[in-house]
Amino acid sequence: KYEKYWLGLGIIGLIAFLLILGFGAFYLGTHPQSHGELIDPENLEMNEAFHEENLGLTKVDEGRYVLNVVASAFNYNLGTDESGAPISHIEIPAGSKVLVQATSPDVVHGLNFAGTNINMMVEPGYVSALEVQLDNPGEYTLVCNEYCGVGHHMMFGTMEVV
Ligand code: CUA
Repeated sequence: KYEKYWLGLGIIGLIAFLLILGFGAFYLGTHPQSHGELIDPENLEMNEAFHEENLGLTKVDEGRYVLNVVASAFNYNLGTDESGAPISHIEIPAGSKVLVQATSPDVVHGLNFAGTNINMMVEPGYVSALEVQLDNPGEYTLVCNEYCGVGHHMMFGTMEVV
């Protein structure tokens, strides 16, 4: 008699597990804040966020921004300006929310705007994502805080919260 009881409990557990799994997949699929979304490091174009024209800072709404970054040895790709020159400095109004989405085509990098809550690990094969609110005006330096090779210290950018 107890066997039936335990079997029933096992089935309930299994259903609960599958529901959680299904909900997790749904949640991750519908929310860009997902951490660790899979991506082919040799084909970053598979994710719209990393199409050349979508890199860098984009205003998506009043006080809301998306910052898409490809961190590679030894550079942060923040997109290009109108003249085609690579962007290394971005400006965001204070009080804005920014969703940072980053990936790497090669090795593990860090993405840290020193002095802000933006501090993430960027791994090849994954999309790292983080949403933060930037309330404090100032200039913040973007540095790589994961040793990634001889040009590690050359990975650099700046962000001004105005
Ligand atoms: Cu990239 Cu250290």
